[in-house]
Amino acid sequence: MVDDDNQSNMFERTEKLNDARESMDDGIVWGGAEPGDQSVANAEAAAAKPMVAIQGEGADQAERPAGPVGLDVGTTHIVAAQNKRNHIETVNQLNAFFTVPVSKFSRKILQSHDIIFFERNDLFYIIGYSAESFANMFNTNTRRPIHEGLLSPSEKEGLSVVQAVVSTLINKPKRFGEVICFGIPGEPLDGPTAGALTYHEQVITMYLQNMGYTPMAVNEGMATVLCELADDDYTGIGISMGGGMCNVCLSYLSFPVITFSVQMAGDYIDRMAGAATAEPATKVKVIKEAELDLSREPKGMVHTALHIYYDEVIAKLLTSLQRVLASSDKLPKISKPVPIILSGGTAMPRGCHSKVSRVLEKVNLPIEISEVRLASDPLYATSKGALIMAMTEAG
Ligand SMILES: Nc1ncnc2c1ncn2[C@@H]1O[C@H](COP(=O)(O)OP(=O)(O)OP(=O)(O)O)[C@@H](O)[C@H]1O
Ligand SMILES: [Mg+2]
Repeated sequence: MVDDDNQSNMFERTEKLNDARESMDDGIVWGGAEPGDQSVANAEAAAAKPMVAIQGEGADQAERPAGPVGLDVGTTHIVAAQNKRNHIETVNQLNAFFTVPVSKFSRKILQSHDIIFFERNDLFYIIGYSAESFANMFNTNTRRPIHEGLLSPSEKEGLSVVQAVVSTLINKPKRFGEVICFGIPGEPLDGPTAGALTYHEQVITMYLQNMGYTPMAVNEGMATVLCELADDDYTGIGISMGGGMCNVCLSYLSFPVITFSVQMAGDYIDRMAGAATAEPATKVKVIKEAELDLSREPKGMVHTALHIYYDEVIAKLLTSLQRVLASSDKLPKISKPVPIILSGGTAMPRGCHSKVSRVLEKVNLPIEISEVRLASDPLYATSKGALIMAMTEAG
């Protein structure tokens, strides 16, 4: 429940957010770590490792931001957003890598082919979109430093890869202590313990601090709300459907009242549809991104499998939403129906938001929903929302 003091804080906060939005003509959150001792100690040790020096054509082209930054550290992509006078500039990189053994010959090849890499333990770590090209050449899959939204415990150099990928997008800030706001997932409903999320948040915080920023975390679903729901007083449900997870946030007047995540999204759809049709997940992903239309009857095995697994992800997402809202004692009394805003790459196929809308009719939520909308720029809503948060904090 929301008391009078909280209510006036909320209005104040909404106003500050709107000021930040106006200055960039376009949305906020915070995370606030509650570190568990062990995961913080581990995070400190991990972040204390030396920074990675990337090599290759264009490796030193990332600019030094002259103002606040919004950063989306996703399972599939890392995106950085900055406010450039009259527009928001976003730059993105694939959050993936591929390793080859170190040799003089391969170094020459990499250097002469526009490939960004770093060297560690007798291996060249090829990163970003270059890694995807390499994996396709070798007819295999790239590796990912982040799995289902969180730093992968099975990739020992995962943090170095994330650092390297980020350093292709942004450099140290021009002004020491510049605010950077980065997206973090909500607690996974059926996933790992709270410690995994704390570790993820802390390790990224420490790395960004080492770079010279003042970092702050923002829930990814909340970032979607900040980016898209200014006209609704930042009240509604933001859902980011990404590669590794679906992140959900119920925001009331810009406060994230309820957040959670479900570790099922684009990667799950690719993997399951691939297994069902004996095709590699990477190939299924290409077909999905180029052709999938959820508003039409599917034709062929791959499309049929994609429809089936989309249905499963949407059903899981909405039944989880129903379960979390129904069991919460924090639900605010909201006087009118609120919108659901969808963002993230997995929300992009034609017909996706109408499908969510149709399934929602069968789910009994304890709050009324006015409509289901797709974000104007689904792949960039998190970074833009994080930028709005960063600008509000900096201003
Ligand atoms: N046009 C498209 N149609 C269908 N799926 C798409 C499209 N474009 C991207 N995707 C899918 O969206 C997912 C990536 O989305 P996004 O970049 O929002 O995720 P992320 O933020 O990196 O991951 P997460 O938020 O789960 O950590 C991938 O599964 C990709 O295949
Ligand atoms: Mg995301």
